[in-house]
Amino acid sequence: MRKIKNIKARQILDSRGNPTVEVDVITNNNILGRASVPSGASKGENEAIELRDGNIEFLGNGVLKAVHNVNNIIAPELIGKPVMDQLYIDKLILNLDGTKNKRRLGSNAILGVSLAVTKAASKELNIPIYKYIGGVYAHLLPVPLINIINGGKHSDSSIVFQEFMIVPVGANTFFEAIQMGYKVYYKLKEILSKKGLSTNIGDEGGFSSNFNNIEDVLDNILESIHLSGYEPYDQIGIALDCAASEFYKKEKYNYSKFEKIQNNKEKIKKSRKEHVNYLSFLTKRYPIISIEDGMDQNDWDGWKLLTNELGKEIQLVGDDLFVTQVDKLNKGIKEKIANSILIKVNQVGTLTETIETISLAKKNKYNNIISHRSGDTEDSFIADLSVAFNIEQIKTGSVCRSERTSKYNQLLRIEELLGKNSYYPGLFLK
Ligand code: PGA
Ligand code: ZN
Repeated sequence: MRKIKNIKARQILDSRGNPTVEVDVITNNNILGRASVPSGASKGENEAIELRDGNIEFLGNGVLKAVHNVNNIIAPELIGKPVMDQLYIDKLILNLDGTKNKRRLGSNAILGVSLAVTKAASKELNIPIYKYIGGVYAHLLPVPLINIINGGKHSDSSIVFQEFMIVPVGANTFFEAIQMGYKVYYKLKEILSKKGLSTNIGDEGGFSSNFNNIEDVLDNILESIHLSGYEPYDQIGIALDCAASEFYKKEKYNYSKFEKIQNNKEKIKKSRKEHVNYLSFLTKRYPIISIEDGMDQNDWDGWKLLTNELGKEIQLVGDDLFVTQVDKLNKGIKEKIANSILIKVNQVGTLTETIETISLAKKNKYNNIISHRSGDTEDSFIADLSVAFNIEQIKTGSVCRSERTSKYNQLLRIEELLGKNSYYPGLFLK
């Protein structure tokens, strides 16, 4: 039986230059599984806790405590254990931690080990990660939600919504989806340049230009879709991540990240009803097919309002709301809140728990969307994860920045590997 011979963690840097955890798991066959851990900027309140050192080095952001926990607490427990028994290993680590939110060992320590174990096991069997996790029926390539404008906490732009994405629903293959996304992204760059707007990019690779307001962003995106020769909605839809928890203050949705306001009629602080009405208005005017975190994570009344208003026509995705956790998703299902869930491995902390959440969503007909974090690494694990469970969507940033393209590139490889057996579900979203 293949066993874990050694585990070694170290501190490396993520795409923002912040320290993060990398873990090596080595088997008694000298096979190496290596995983690194992403990190968010607009985190949900109920996410598993990532440990940060809080001292003067790296401005408090060091992860040497988490590294220490892997090397000195988790490793001794796992050495000699069967590398292919993922469930057993994840449970062992969870018991070692013993807290609900993983604050003792840190979700960054725990996730690094959990995923490195998976990778080592798949290499032992000499099969791709997606097949190791998902089995012989893993064959579906996800529709990418490609980020093209960064606002909110991910850029210095004046726009309060965090992410504006394009969704190539009309593509026939994943390869074609990337081709379409690329074209629209570069047409948008051309348009922005011509207008004298900055084409600098934000944390997830979308442009971080200073637009006048949200409609101005959407108008520019629409123009780039047209200019690329695509039919909005039929071929390319638009997806938003409002990340509304970041601008919900004192029971108001505060749009004041705007620096320039085209006319003073625009109301900056919106009540939950006004905010929902505004989102509804946007969906009527633009080819929006998906809205993530449209409401604040604790504003369940607001979520209800939004779901009643748009839940039948549009994908409503809970990110901060559900934090990839079974109990939160269960509450949402019971109260008929949202209709989809964003899946972020580090919000929950182990592969086993991630799979439990994905399964619960599937059982209740909530769409799963596998997701990166705004601080990410070259690790492309989530690409395999999406194919493993035939998950129809992935959100992993723009078509630039290596930590984003590493996931797309892995999906291109998987599509090639699957050949005729691969399936791109594009139009399902509509
Ligand atoms: P984060 O944001 O990774 O910065 O938390 C991503 C998202 O909200 O989807
Ligand atoms: Zn989000």
